[in-house]
Amino acid sequence: MIPRIYIPGDSGALALGAEKVAKAIASELAERGIEAKIVRNGSRGAYFLEPMVEVATANGRVAYGPVKPSDVKSLFDCGFLTGGHHKRWLGAPDKIPFLARQTRLTFARCGINDPLSLDAYKSLGGLNGLRNAVAMAPADIVKQVTESGLRGRGGAGFPTGIKWKTVLDTTADKKYIVCNADEGDSATFADRMIMEGDPFVLIEGMAIAGIATGATKGFVYIRSEYPHAVTMMNKAVEVARKAGVLGASVLGSPNAFDMEIRVGAGAYVCGEETALLNSLEGKRGVVRAKPPLPAIQGLFGKPTVINNVISLASVPVIMDKGAAFYKDFGMGRSRGTIPIQIAGNVKHAGLFEAAFGMTLGEIVDDIGGGTATGRPVKAVQVGGPLGAYFPRALFDTPFDYEAFAAKDGLIGHAGITVFDDTADMLKQARFAMEFCAIESCGKCTPCRIGSTRGVETIDKLAAGIEPEKNLALVTDLCNTMKFGSLCALGGFTPYPVMSSITHFPDDFKPAPVRVAAE
Ligand SMILES: Cc1cc2nc3c(=O)[nH]c(=O)nc-3n(C[C@H](O)[C@H](O)[C@H](O)COP(=O)(O)O)c2cc1C
Ligand code: SF4
Repeated sequence: MIPRIYIPGDSGALALGAEKVAKAIASELAERGIEAKIVRNGSRGAYFLEPMVEVATANGRVAYGPVKPSDVKSLFDCGFLTGGHHKRWLGAPDKIPFLARQTRLTFARCGINDPLSLDAYKSLGGLNGLRNAVAMAPADIVKQVTESGLRGRGGAGFPTGIKWKTVLDTTADKKYIVCNADEGDSATFADRMIMEGDPFVLIEGMAIAGIATGATKGFVYIRSEYPHAVTMMNKAVEVARKAGVLGASVLGSPNAFDMEIRVGAGAYVCGEETALLNSLEGKRGVVRAKPPLPAIQGLFGKPTVINNVISLASVPVIMDKGAAFYKDFGMGRSRGTIPIQIAGNVKHAGLFEAAFGMTLGEIVDDIGGGTATGRPVKAVQVGGPLGAYFPRALFDTPFDYEAFAAKDGLIGHAGITVFDDTADMLKQARFAMEFCAIESCGKCTPCRIGSTRGVETIDKLAAGIEPEKNLALVTDLCNTMKFGSLCALGGFTPYPVMSSITHFPDDFKPAPVRVAAE
């Protein structure tokens, strides 16, 4: 059998030099006259080890990483095609601690094989969930998803089954499934990773959602900054259509479901579900007032399921292994697993799928390995640009929707950004207000005007102008934005601002004192 070499081709690995490594390996093979097959898989998500090259040996896969083009010759000299030792040798990928400690349900196949091989997908349990779904009544599929406890992974944590039931129970001549792949939150890349590393799992999840609710058409709305994901999804849809997974008769059943990939123009607010629907309809991405809920009047006025990529990609395993299996993972009302994305100033950056319930400290210190700079961790922002900053004193908070809410924070799309002790939290609070001012859709006053006034007031604080009065003003402004905004952009911006003020009061001291302290 000719040797197989796996080199990730997803944009994360490419950004770290995977293409150059692939070229160096190909030319070394040619030079040495060795016949081997290079497979471009997705990444397994341990980005601190990318480009991570794997070879299939008689004793299973052996990984090497992070591989540089200059390592390639010596890799061959060390016999890496049969798993030989080298300074980049990592051993069996499943045994690498960062990967071994995970509970991979949604990402079970991501990074293992060629993402566009449907046979490889099926060989690892792919399509089992859809096969079960086509044999079930729609209401039973919805019941199974509801009983699994799956909640939306896009940020709001709304129960997926309940959303689907509303669409199922609404009569209409046409219904839609819309997948939110805008992935605008800082530190998040789970949606991109799965679209590039295991696109069929999203297609399968969307087809199940269609059959469960009576929707026959799906759209994936992908941010324009993800050209690689757009290409992969388009290719995967084509493969799925040819294989009868999509089309007039899904897996030979009487159910029709097909889908299209659409590219957003690039605005954070277009990740908000109603602004996304406007954008999909060709309109400006402005938030719509609710009601009506998209589940009743969504895309083109028709009942629409809008779900995040990870919510939909988590459905196949639920339909394959059952609601009880999935529900068995997690804590409290946060059931199943969540792909935690560890980023910022951290040693082990990457995607870590785990059951809900790990503490923030375990994630940052044990899994993330602390800061990349080696300095003490000062703050961790959880949940993207609208998430709160957590100090070390709150590191015992378990990763759970309700536990984070109880500490005035949110899990959001599960991105965490680590900062060391050089971070200036006043600057971070200002950044939150500035971000909101730039990204505001302008529909409501607390967000449109409040964010600009917020930047001005924080600037006064930084300059030491009437600190007590301006601190009270920022707090008052945050309350107005929190309770008076139409959507979570204006409504949640107070989280990073107020958590900075509450947990890092020293950073908000008048300018002369701050300068002296520095
Ligand atoms: C300003 C703003 C940006 C958002 N961006 C995203 C996004 O990029 N991706 C996403 O899935 N949800 C995003 N959401 C949440 C969506 O509005 C919505 O809750 C989600 O798509 C529902 O899917 P889920 O129930 O599967 O999470 C955003 C919300 C707001 C207010
Ligand atoms: S909170 Fe901001 S983004 Fe949301 S509707 Fe109001 S102006 Fe638009």
